[in-house]
Amino acid sequence: MSAPPTPAGATLALDGVSMHHEAEGRRIDVLRGVSLRVEAGSSIAVVGPSGSGKTSLLLLLAGLERPAAGRIAVDGLDLGTQNADTLADLRRDRIGIVFQSFHLLPSLTALDNVALPLQMAGVRDALPRARAVLERVGLAERADHHPARLSGGEQQRVAIARAVVHRPRLLLADEPTGNLDDSTGECVRELLFGLQRDQGMTLVLVTHDPAFAARCDRVLRLHDGRLSEAPSETAAARTATPADAALPA
Ligand SMILES: Nc1ncnc2c1ncn2[C@@H]1O[C@H](COP(=O)(O)OP(=O)(O)OP(=O)(O)O)[C@@H](O)[C@H]1O
Ligand SMILES: [Mg+2]
Repeated sequence: MSAPPTPAGATLALDGVSMHHEAEGRRIDVLRGVSLRVEAGSSIAVVGPSGSGKTSLLLLLAGLERPAAGRIAVDGLDLGTQNADTLADLRRDRIGIVFQSFHLLPSLTALDNVALPLQMAGVRDALPRARAVLERVGLAERADHHPARLSGGEQQRVAIARAVVHRPRLLLADEPTGNLDDSTGECVRELLFGLQRDQGMTLVLVTHDPAFAARCDRVLRLHDGRLSEAPSETAAARTATPADAALPA
């Protein structure tokens, strides 16, 4: 058996992170002093009721929002001390994001949507690389279609291809199977974990689906502005089989 690949993923560290939104004169406390460590190459699921702040947390991790208090570091880089340009560079180089509502550009084909992050980074072989990733998500035949001509599941797969095409160290995925039927959802689940394994990414997955969450190394529940560890079946299975540790490397 060959040694597992060295994780290429990013480490994440949150210390005392608080965040609130203002809406119609009312203050909504979304996070109240959240602290968290995520190891490079591991996967965590964030679960919690609608409105509990899961998307807000992902936007903080991507540097698209700033916390009111506390510190967020990606690979030791303190996001709070970076300007907008550096944060944009960080996203371009190291972070992939699958948004809750795809965010594909309607005027671009599937291929051009996927190639865009590479083209913006000045990568010369952007189109062949984008085509290869579209193939990986099973959409080689749809490369020239615009999003409006794709089904929800196909658009979701294009969004995933776009998020991973630059081989990010950190993948943030917000409800990637939220709008999909069971079998398409299963394809997307397989795809995400396959990509995570092959590229050694750190994965932060927001999901309402307990079975999807259970496939992550850890499950964290966001409730009342706080994160708490929830039992993960995967983690439980690992600790329940100490004999695994004795397997030859
Ligand atoms: N830009 C904003 N301005 C004001 N309030 C906001 C803003 N964005 C989110 N909120 C509020 O913050 C809270 C958390 O929202 P968020 O979108 O992070 O929740 P969520 O856990 O992702 O929910 P869902 O599961 O429905 O996607 C909600 O009460 C929401 O109404
Ligand atoms: Mg959300």
